[in-house]
Amino acid sequence: MYAQMVNAGADKLKSGVEMTAQERAFQEKIDADIKIEPKDWMPESYRKTLIRQISQHAHSEIVGMLPEGNWVTRAPTLERKAILLAKIQDEGGHGLYLYSAAETLGISRDELLGQLHSGKAKYSSIFNYPTQTWADIGAIGWLVDGAAIMNQVPLQRCSFGPYSRAMIRVCKEESFHQRQGYDIIRTLAEGTAEQRAMAQDALNRWWWPSLMMFGPPDGQSVHSAQSMQWKIKLFTNDELRQRFVDQTVPQAEYLGLTVPDPDLRWNEQEQRHEFGEIDWNEFFEVLKGHGPCNKERLQARVDAWDNGAWVREAAMAHAEKQAARTHPDAA
Ligand SMILES: [Fe+2]
Ligand SMILES: [Fe+2]
Repeated sequence: MYAQMVNAGADKLKSGVEMTAQERAFQEKIDADIKIEPKDWMPESYRKTLIRQISQHAHSEIVGMLPEGNWVTRAPTLERKAILLAKIQDEGGHGLYLYSAAETLGISRDELLGQLHSGKAKYSSIFNYPTQTWADIGAIGWLVDGAAIMNQVPLQRCSFGPYSRAMIRVCKEESFHQRQGYDIIRTLAEGTAEQRAMAQDALNRWWWPSLMMFGPPDGQSVHSAQSMQWKIKLFTNDELRQRFVDQTVPQAEYLGLTVPDPDLRWNEQEQRHEFGEIDWNEFFEVLKGHGPCNKERLQARVDAWDNGAWVREAAMAHAEKQAARTHPDAA
């Protein structure tokens, strides 16, 4: 999920005349919707931007497992627990596809994880918020996976072959995630007064961070124009955010829940919802590492890496033994 959120850098679009012949041929392929494959020539900045985008996405998948993992042992029924486990495993799988896609661009998995563990690489800020009640698991599926789908469906058509193909499978699984989340929230919303209050409280806490998932407003989103020309971003942050609001508000209304935004109103003329100002200070504070759970999340990933060292060593030793057996001369 969560790929195009924290782009940084300057935007300078080259016109056709300024491009080299190679760059022009590359852009023409993209314009003709021909996929770029790992062995094809590509501008260095395309490669770098994609490594950053895909790895941020991969990191978000595996960090996103943590807030939900917190509730596996406290799921209210065996069925809910089985569904939650399957969902979290899917997210781990998404991480693996995406790390593999990034590796085709010439960077190693160790290097990518090193960037996450050192704090150099970003992941989606939403996972720095805590999961306080079972209703939060519903809100994450409904809103966070819902926002992820909004972002990822267009990426199925992005210009880089391995990324676009990974997105096709990921999106199928994300729609299951969203439905399981909505089902949790619906059950609570139709339950006792206390359960209903839990659902409302979860919506109150997750609504605004979900809108922030689409990244800064278009005016402040540097890098956008180049990414759009390369078709690794197909809609702007504000366009996707608007779609998400238009899709989600009627779902909240159906549940009888209140979206925590006094400025929310339907604009009949423009056929869209108007909504209130997002607190971008909060977004940038969390991005800088000052969210409620930033330290805890990163530490959990570093611990998982350290505690898994024996598995990596055993796998290496096994591979060496196998190689020595098959090619005794080379050993
Ligand atoms: Fe995912
Ligand atoms: Fe998901």
